[in-house]
Amino acid sequence: MSVVVRLVQESDLPLLRERQARPELGLVDVHYEAASGGTLLFAVALEDDEPLGTALLDVDPENRWVPELRNMWVYPTARRRGAGRALSSWLEQQARDRGFQAVYLAVDPNNEKAIPLYVSLDYLPTGEHLYVEDPEVPQVDESTQPAEHYAIYKKSLTAH
Ligand SMILES: CC(C)(COP(=O)(O)OP(=O)(O)OC[C@H]1O[C@@H](n2cnc3c(N)ncnc32)[C@H](O)[C@@H]1OP(=O)(O)O)[C@@H](O)C(=O)NCCC(=O)NCCS
Repeated sequence: MSVVVRLVQESDLPLLRERQARPELGLVDVHYEAASGGTLLFAVALEDDEPLGTALLDVDPENRWVPELRNMWVYPTARRRGAGRALSSWLEQQARDRGFQAVYLAVDPNNEKAIPLYVSLDYLPTGEHLYVEDPEVPQVDESTQPAEHYAIYKKSLTAH
């Protein structure tokens, strides 16, 4: 079965709460609420109806980099099955459909899993950085010290 991506529904929440990256932050509910308010899209990747992971497209016009692909979290047991690529591509299409010309993201420069993914999807570093004190999603293994400055990457949605 292939990976499918769709918006998170209320019926998904119990399972997503169990599998969130940092349960103590309760972000599944925060993000579901924000999605209802229209400031972000909250997407889930599934295979055979089994959630593999989630990601956000933040479209809040108050933010500095809009729209921003954020909080991608593929469950550790579900990795390397295409969920990260499917979530990114689906959310990019949502951005295109809304008339955005580019998508941004912030990544730990030592994130050796995500950077190859984003480079393969044509994201390029902008040279800008974002200070991150307490990451909402752990991007690097426990043996690696998280960076305090994430690199901003941008993908043009208009380039051919
Ligand atoms: C980064 C992450 C989202 C990738 O999700 P995934 O579902 O495993 O990724 P996919 O299966 O779609 O892989 C897509 C590409 O990513 C890259 N990639 C993924 N895991 C990798 C790894 N362990 N080492 C090197 N490259 C890797 C490869 O280019 C891969 O393509 P390939 O399988 O054709 O070689 C996942 O590892 C994760 O949730 N990490 C922790 C949180 C995080 O870093 N989020 C991103 C924040 S910016």
